Amino acid sequence: MSESSDLVVRPSTEADVPAMLAIYEHHVRNGVTVAETEPLQDEDIKRRRKNMLRRKLPHLVAERGGMVVGYAYAVPFRKRPAYRYAVKHSIYVHPDHLHSGVGRRLLPALVEACTEAGFRQMLAYVDAENRASQALHEAFGFRRVGLLEGVGYKFGRWTDSLLMQRTIGAGTTEPPGF
Ligand SMILES: CC(C)(COP(=O)(O)OP(=O)(O)OC[C@H]1O[C@@H](n2cnc3c(N)ncnc32)[C@H](O)[C@@H]1OP(=O)(O)O)[C@@H](O)C(=O)NCCC(=O)NCCS
Repeated sequence: MSESSDLVVRPSTEADVPAMLAIYEHHVRNGVTVAETEPLQDEDIKRRRKNMLRRKLPHLVAERGGMVVGYAYAVPFRKRPAYRYAVKHSIYVHPDHLHSGVGRRLLPALVEACTEAGFRQMLAYVDAENRASQALHEAFGFRRVGLLEGVGYKFGRWTDSLLMQRTIGAGTTEPPGF
């Protein structure tokens, strides 16, 4: 199914924070994501957004009919400087807009934005039972590079995560540009 022609993908603004928080909270309640220890507040998301923008890390939203229906962003893969060309990303779609083409628009837009920013590798940890996310990532060139066993605990049981990776830009064929 694809109803993505009515979608606009753009960098997020501070005004998008409540909508992003509502989407995130829905997925935490439904067990897609391992919850934060404390409930996330508007201020937490605002701070994270600003930190990311300062480091030129993309933070995008998808809008449909003027409403935020999904968001995607990248953070450093690891903090140490040697890893600064690799990013780890997240993507969340509004519960009323799942499987209607939002992820299909957001993920390639994030890949493009990360490529333009000069990063070389993108990584995502995907719950081993999250078929939708695995299929979406595979559709955009991500490969399963690892299975992390028992790294999560939610709703009374241990969960596995898949590590998915994609090379972007010049990858490892050239030295970094920044
Ligand atoms: C994973 C997620 C981002 C996919 O976004 P989406 O907008 O629903 O996906 P799209 O409609 O763009 O679909 C893209 C592809 O993903 C796969 N997909 C999406 N929903 C699916 C589902 N329910 N079951 C199986 N595959 C699915 C399909 O391969 C689909 O391609 P198709 O349209 O040709 O069938 C979305 O389901 C989501 O936000 N889930 C909850 C949060 C989450 O899991 N985030 C990822 C954490 S790593």
